[in-house]
Amino acid sequence: MSNAPTEEKVLEVEHYTDRLFRFKISRPRSFRFRSGEFIMIGLPALPDQKRPILRAYSVASPSWDESLEFYSIKVPDGPLTSRLQKIKTGDTVLLGRKPVGTLVLDALLPGKRLYMFSTGTGLAPFASLIRDPETYERYDEVILTHTCREAAELNYGLELVQSLKDDPLVGEMIDGKLKHITSLTREDHPLKGRITTLIENGKLFDEAGVPPLNPAEDRVMICGSKDMIDDTAKLVETFGLKEGSNSQPQEFVVEKSFVG
Ligand code: A2P
Repeated sequence: MSNAPTEEKVLEVEHYTDRLFRFKISRPRSFRFRSGEFIMIGLPALPDQKRPILRAYSVASPSWDESLEFYSIKVPDGPLTSRLQKIKTGDTVLLGRKPVGTLVLDALLPGKRLYMFSTGTGLAPFASLIRDPETYERYDEVILTHTCREAAELNYGLELVQSLKDDPLVGEMIDGKLKHITSLTREDHPLKGRITTLIENGKLFDEAGVPPLNPAEDRVMICGSKDMIDDTAKLVETFGLKEGSNSQPQEFVVEKSFVG
């Protein structure tokens, strides 16, 4: 069987800001993935290109969905996103065949509370996981944090969480279990500051109404820029949590969100 990407059709595109948009594509019947994993996405090569440019994207839709959703940054001179941001319904997008990743429920030991710390498009894998009933079967409490520069960048997450209340699959499961905490760093907002600051000064735990991080009860997934991941992981380690992987589940896992 060929390992070449499959050609999929764009089903939907929605722009949020001049830096962020989401799109949905068709999903081949044979395409299986675990909620939270990422896959290579690209566009057919231009006449002057030897081969197509592909980049890793977290699947934002849940594993049971008929289509695949992605949440993307737009980089004006980015090799892929400068073109990808112009896609329209009916266009062709290339989809890799092998989903992988560490932001999966199986890479964590059982626990009571699951934290998902995200910045910017780092929300994407969690957009998948918060729509997956298994997340709520495994944890008593799910705390999703999303920190962005400006208010408009929170909209994808806010609309998604709002829509989950009427979701036939997880609507009842999230009641009282899913907490969505948003913060901004460059505009006014009820909660201001980087996630690292909010962990350090304890405002995150006050806001969520929970005790500080504790390796006996808490599990953590982190997704954002490289610096955000490094800083947040270091901080989480100071509470005694250890980093896990698919082959060695532990108390926290990290993954870099798409950039460039
Ligand atoms: P800040 O505005 O202080 O840079 P970006 O869009 O650049 O990925 O940033 C998304 C969010 O992540 C912003 O709110 C940004 O805060 C924050 N951020 C950037 N670097 C870090 C870091 N090292 N640790 C925690 N948060 C970060």
